[in-house]
Amino acid sequence: MTENILEVRDLVKHYPVTRGVVFKKTIGHVKAVDGVSMELRSGETLGVVGESGCGKSTLARVLMNLERPTAGSVLYKGQDISKLSGGALRRLRRQIQLVMQDPYTSLNPRMTVGDLIGEPFEIHPDVAPRGSRRQKVKELLDLVGLNPEHINRYPHQFSGGQRQRIGIARALALRPEIIICDEPVSALDVSIQAQVMNLLEKLQDEFGLSYVFIAHDLSVVRHLSDRVAVMYLGKIVEIGTEDEIYERPTHPYTQALLSAVPVPDPTLRDQKAIIRLTGDVPSPVSPPSGCRFRTRCWKAQDVCAEQVPLLEIRSGSDHPSACHFAEKREIVATHEA
Ligand SMILES: Nc1ncnc2c1ncn2[C@@H]1O[C@H](COP(=O)(O)OP(=O)(O)O)[C@@H](O)[C@H]1O
Ligand SMILES: [Mg+2]
Repeated sequence: MTENILEVRDLVKHYPVTRGVVFKKTIGHVKAVDGVSMELRSGETLGVVGESGCGKSTLARVLMNLERPTAGSVLYKGQDISKLSGGALRRLRRQIQLVMQDPYTSLNPRMTVGDLIGEPFEIHPDVAPRGSRRQKVKELLDLVGLNPEHINRYPHQFSGGQRQRIGIARALALRPEIIICDEPVSALDVSIQAQVMNLLEKLQDEFGLSYVFIAHDLSVVRHLSDRVAVMYLGKIVEIGTEDEIYERPTHPYTQALLSAVPVPDPTLRDQKAIIRLTGDVPSPVSPPSGCRFRTRCWKAQDVCAEQVPLLEIRSGSDHPSACHFAEKREIVATHEA
């Protein structure tokens, strides 16, 4: 049995909405993450997918302990990370690293790549003694497919894909166990996306990394993910293995997201149903009652407004789905997303 390196239990992250300048009055809450439970197994890639605003980045920040949860817990190897402090917290920080979406804004433009990639060593000097740092940075550059001779260059002298490689080298510097990739290729050209994905896959094999891989598009995570969690308005609506999610999806939201994935074969397109997802994600300040997806769902009935569907395995299926009417459905992808 593979161990769970991270376990998330009933995780909630709400942000207060305030009014007034001097006497701030809380008038509501943004329910960014609202009851998420899942685990990350050692060495696996867990894809997390959902439209913009569904709470993916908030989940990432809480997983990294950059923000404290409103409720619930994140266990790293069985230890509640929100209870860690001092040395234990520093060690944890080393083990979980983040690769962000936008390589243009996440790198300080006034620092050389050498300084950027070496910066984590300043905070964790025990990982690389001062005299060895330049050499370590050069090794990291080489590892991510950049020329070690370019160590004194600045971020603007690199292309978008290369800047994302710099971000990956920086995340790798402390030899973490877990890397949370928050839409790492969303800002890149399609041709460059595959190269960065291949690099991440190579690094995972080489270092036995565990990934949480966030994307807004199911097609991006398919190749890399062992399992996929689909998020909608702060909740996981369906979770399963790559096969279960892509071949046998049961939640209408997953089916709709898959419908927007282009299929190259036109005959395949004609055989199956086409679902178009219309409208926007409702506000997380006042999400719909019952099932949050019901306002955009073609299957919605009265019960969907009254009862919150639990994330559980339903009859005829083999993996958890949070829909009162979960059922298998053949999905077709369209070119109109
Ligand atoms: N620091 C914050 N304060 C208030 N609201 C926030 C904050 N961070 C995120 N949100 C809100 O939480 C919701 C989820 O955001 P986010 O986690 O960024 O979603 P995603 O990454 O899936 O696009 C959004 O409605 C966003 O506006
Ligand atoms: Mg995000």
